[in-house]
Amino acid sequence: MKTLYACQECNFETTNWSGKCPNCEAWNTLAEDTGPRPISKTPRKLQVKAQTPQQLNSVSTQEHTQKFSTNISEFDRVIGDGIIPGSLTLLSGEPGIGKSTLTLQVANEVAKNHNVLLISGEESVAQIANRSNRLGHTTDNLHAINEFNLETILETIKTTKPKLAIIDSIQVISSLNITSSSGSISQVRYCTEQLMELAKTSNIALIIIGHVTKDGNLAGPRTLEHLVDTVMQFEGDRFQQFRMLRVVKNRFGSCNEIGIFQMENEGLKEVTNPSAQFLEERKPNAIGSTITVTMEGTRPLLIEVQALTNTTTFGYPKRTANGFDLNRLQILIAVLEKYAKLNLQNQDVFVNIVGGMKLKEPSADFAVLSAIASSFLKKPISPDTIIYGEVGLSGELRKVTHHEKRKQEATKLGFTKIISPETEKEITQLITRLKSA
Ligand code: TYD
Ligand code: MG
Repeated sequence: MKTLYACQECNFETTNWSGKCPNCEAWNTLAEDTGPRPISKTPRKLQVKAQTPQQLNSVSTQEHTQKFSTNISEFDRVIGDGIIPGSLTLLSGEPGIGKSTLTLQVANEVAKNHNVLLISGEESVAQIANRSNRLGHTTDNLHAINEFNLETILETIKTTKPKLAIIDSIQVISSLNITSSSGSISQVRYCTEQLMELAKTSNIALIIIGHVTKDGNLAGPRTLEHLVDTVMQFEGDRFQQFRMLRVVKNRFGSCNEIGIFQMENEGLKEVTNPSAQFLEERKPNAIGSTITVTMEGTRPLLIEVQALTNTTTFGYPKRTANGFDLNRLQILIAVLEKYAKLNLQNQDVFVNIVGGMKLKEPSADFAVLSAIASSFLKKPISPDTIIYGEVGLSGELRKVTHHEKRKQEATKLGFTKIISPETEKEITQLITRLKSA
C-alpha cells in the first residue's frame, strides 16, 4: 500500500512528505499514515427510508436522571453532577500528571455500587492491583484487564456489561481493521468511533484517556475531540502538588467548572478550600508579591503573583513568565514605563504564578503589574490587599466580570483592602502610593 502522510492538525492527506502542511501551513505536522479504511469498490444499492421527526417536548429526557455519582465531588461537579450512562468522555493530560490515578479513584468509588472495568494497554493487571491496594481500595466490583486490541476490548465490554469502563490509553490501543500503527491518526480515530458506537448502543459509560504533548495537543489527532461527548483536561505542573480538572467540551453540562486536586502519597485528594491552600506558604510583606482573585468558571480563586526585577548585566533584558502570557507581560512592562515612568528598560523581569496555576484572565493584569512595580520600587504591597483588574494600553483600569463574587471570596479569607477598577481608574494611583510608602 502506498504510504500516505496526514497532517496531525487538519487531517490533510498527501503522498509526499513535506515540512509544512500544504493545506493549513502548520510546520512539522505531517506524519506517516496508511490512510483510511478501504471502501468497498462496488457499493451496495442503499435502501433508505425517511425518518419521522419527533416532537421535542414529548421526548423523554430520562438520560439526565440516570446520572450516577462518583462520590468525588470535585469530579462530579466538573463533569456535570455525575456520569451519564452511554456517554464517552475523553480525559486528556500530559504523561505523569495523574490520569491513571484519577480514573482508578473514580473507578473505585463507582465500584462501591456498580460493576466497573478497567482496561489498560499500558500497565499489567498486577501493576494496577498494586496501585489500587496502595490507595486502599477494597471493593469486589472492580475488575481489570491488560489489553490493547480494540476488538477484544469491545467484546469484553459487551460481555461483561459494566456500568463504567475506563480505557487507558487511546494511543496504545489498535484495531486489526486498520493497518497503521497504534497512536496514528487513523487508529486513534477509528478506535474512538468504535468505542463511541459501543457506548451509545450498550448504554455503558466509557472514559478514555489520551496523552497530550507539552504544548497541549493531543498526541495524535485533535479531531478526537469532535468525536466524543465530553473532553476533560487534567493539568498542572508535574512537580507541584496541585492538579486542575477542566472541562473543555461537554454535551451534557456546562464547561465552566474546574475541580482542584492535590497529589499526595495516598493518591489525589480533593481541595475543598483552594484559596486558603494557594496562600499557605506566602511570606507577608515580601516585595514583588501580591494576591489576586481569578475566576475559574463560577468559582473565585485567590492566587499569589510574584515578580522579580533585576538589573540586566548583559545584552537585552530578559522577560520570563511562568503561568502568565509572555506577550501580555511585555505589554504591562511597556505600560509601566510609559504611564508610571518606571525605567524598566535595563531590567530583567520575571513573573511567577504560585502553585503551578495559569492565569489567563485579563483580570490578572493589574496584580502582575503591581507586583513588578513593587519589586522594582522595593516597596511591599500590604499583605491584606487583593488586586485585580484589566489594564488598558493607556494605563487605565478596566472592569472585569463577577466583581461581587471576587469581593466575597477575598473578604471570606480576611483581606480588607480590595484594589480593583471599582475603586481606582488609573494604574498610577497605586504606583504613586507605592512610591511614597
Ligand atoms: P499517573 O496516574 O500514572 O499519571 P498518568 O496516568 O497521567 O501518566 O501518576 C503520575 C504520578 O503521580 C506518578 O509519577 C507518581 C504520582 N503519584 C503520587 O504521587 N501518589 C500516588 O498515590 C500515586 C498513585 C501516584
Ligand atoms: Mg497512566
